[in-house]
Amino acid sequence: MQINTDLFLGDCEKILKKIPDNSVDLIITSPPYADQRKGTYGGIDHEEYVEWFLPITKELLRVLKPTGTFILNIKEKVVNGERSTYVMELIIEMRKQGWFWTEEFIWHKKNCYPGKWPNRFRDAWERLLQFNKERKFTMYQENVMVPMGDWAKSRLKKLSETDKQRDNSKVGSGFGKNISNWLTRDKAYPTNVLHLATECSNKSHSAAFPEELPEWFIKLFTKEKDVVLDPFMGSGTSIIVSQRMRRNSIGIDIVPEYYHMVKQQVEPLQLVLLEPEVKYEKSKAKRRNTIR
Ligand SMILES: C[S@@+](CC[C@H](N)C(=O)[O-])C[C@H]1O[C@@H](n2cnc3c(N)ncnc32)[C@H](O)[C@@H]1O
Repeated sequence: MQINTDLFLGDCEKILKKIPDNSVDLIITSPPYADQRKGTYGGIDHEEYVEWFLPITKELLRVLKPTGTFILNIKEKVVNGERSTYVMELIIEMRKQGWFWTEEFIWHKKNCYPGKWPNRFRDAWERLLQFNKERKFTMYQENVMVPMGDWAKSRLKKLSETDKQRDNSKVGSGFGKNISNWLTRDKAYPTNVLHLATECSNKSHSAAFPEELPEWFIKLFTKEKDVVLDPFMGSGTSIIVSQRMRRNSIGIDIVPEYYHMVKQQVEPLQLVLLEPEVKYEKSKAKRRNTIR
């Protein structure tokens, strides 16, 4: 099966115009955060952030299929002692643009830096905002189920036999009935909190995703041969993971060094007929070795 990986060098606002309407299944990206990394790839002032980003989200809305999903990794920083509000303003403006703000996942960074601040604690999470074009969209929930673990034993032990058997709870929530359905199952649906370490091994980019992050959303929202887009691809984590998972992908970055680095990693695999998980795991290990 031929998998296409299309890479572009340049400003995504311009390059996105080359992508046809309604052609992408999943957009997953982490744009430059406001006021950060000015030295490496340019930071946008937090007061100008919404104005800068909206023309890009307009193009993203156009290229996304009606069944598709957009996952935006973003986190407001502290300015003059308080959290900036640009992410909230962005959500409001994107809704006006026609997006549905379906969900907010939390990326809990398991290995965040130790530190001490006079007025706050270590920042250990980032937002993963989910936007959709339509209220009904494609979602393969079974693909991300997690082991039930000890939850069933400890939580369900507290329910009385009557609770487990009755058709409905006294308050009409259906709690007893719903919970008892899970007694015999060994897998549950996950929560909206993803506990992942930041990618310490990837030294080629200062803000790379851990591979598990795009991998989880690709499993949840796409199937083989679907199209994944990352308009701020950086070291290309979403693109390389998409390729391994046999998804077509489109990656854009404005910095030539990043573009060439991703190209070098993607090309050897481009013509390979990818096979199930064994090869996927092998190529994952290979990437880890290459980027050290
Ligand atoms: C936070 S990083 C993305 C990191 C990426 N998720 C990874 O795993 O490596 C943001 C990237 O956006 C790129 N960038 C900034 N402005 C851009 C623009 N207007 N168009 C395309 N890329 C841009 C930067 O060069 C940077 O690599």
